Amino acid sequence: MSPAPLWCVLPAAGRGARMGADRPKQYLSLGGKPLIAHTLERLAAHPCIAGLMVVLGAQDAFWPGIDTLHGKPVRTALGGAERSDSVRAGLEALPPEVGEADFVLVHDAARPCVRAADIARLIERAAQVDGGLLGAPLRDTLKRASEGDLSLATEPRDQRWRAFTPQMFRRGELVAALRAVSRDSRAVSDEAMAMELAGFRPLLVEGAEDNIKVTTAADLALAEFLLTRTA
Ligand code: CTP
Ligand code: MG
Repeated sequence: MSPAPLWCVLPAAGRGARMGADRPKQYLSLGGKPLIAHTLERLAAHPCIAGLMVVLGAQDAFWPGIDTLHGKPVRTALGGAERSDSVRAGLEALPPEVGEADFVLVHDAARPCVRAADIARLIERAAQVDGGLLGAPLRDTLKRASEGDLSLATEPRDQRWRAFTPQMFRRGELVAALRAVSRDSRAVSDEAMAMELAGFRPLLVEGAEDNIKVTTAADLALAEFLLTRTA
């Protein structure tokens, strides 16, 4: 039995420093519309999604003010200094109909190429345990480098995964894990790391590697290409 549709929190409060453009990368044009519009479209069109909570930066002058998409509510919240602060703000701003024990998704606004089938598979598999995330086993040989970029050693590759989004956890457990991280001044790079620190063991669900996070100008060109070929 598939679970009830879930809300998805989309952190979009970053500044895109590595992209170095004149605006946050989520508002750069991809095939004629803003990058974030592609991400929102893919999620809103998905039958497993109930609503979207977009987390925006305080100085955001670009958000187009969307409030429904495919008949689903699109709400906004104000983000924070770190991604984990933004995600927490989004979770706290979810409507009361989303219970503490309900699963929610978190998906980077900067990942427009996520595939519908991967979202469905994540939801189906992670709902059977305490949550999980999309990712892919590492395929390249992994080197440990010196500060001067000399290769010091070759790290084992087996049982190493790259972590993507969406990530899926119970609302209450994820908020508690993110609050603990902030209380302890720990930096976490994704929700799964906060959950690991809280003692959970998120399920890694293999997804397509073209679910790229747009970070640089080269990624923008690649995403534009991928969007014409994936669904
Ligand atoms: N994000 C956020 N709040 C922050 C930082 C990041 O909501 N304080 C969001 C970004 O908008 C993005 C996602 O988290 O959708 C992944 O972060 P990243 O790729 O690092 O984006 P930026 O922080 O914008 O980029 P950079 O690190 O190059 O500045
Ligand atoms: Mg960042």
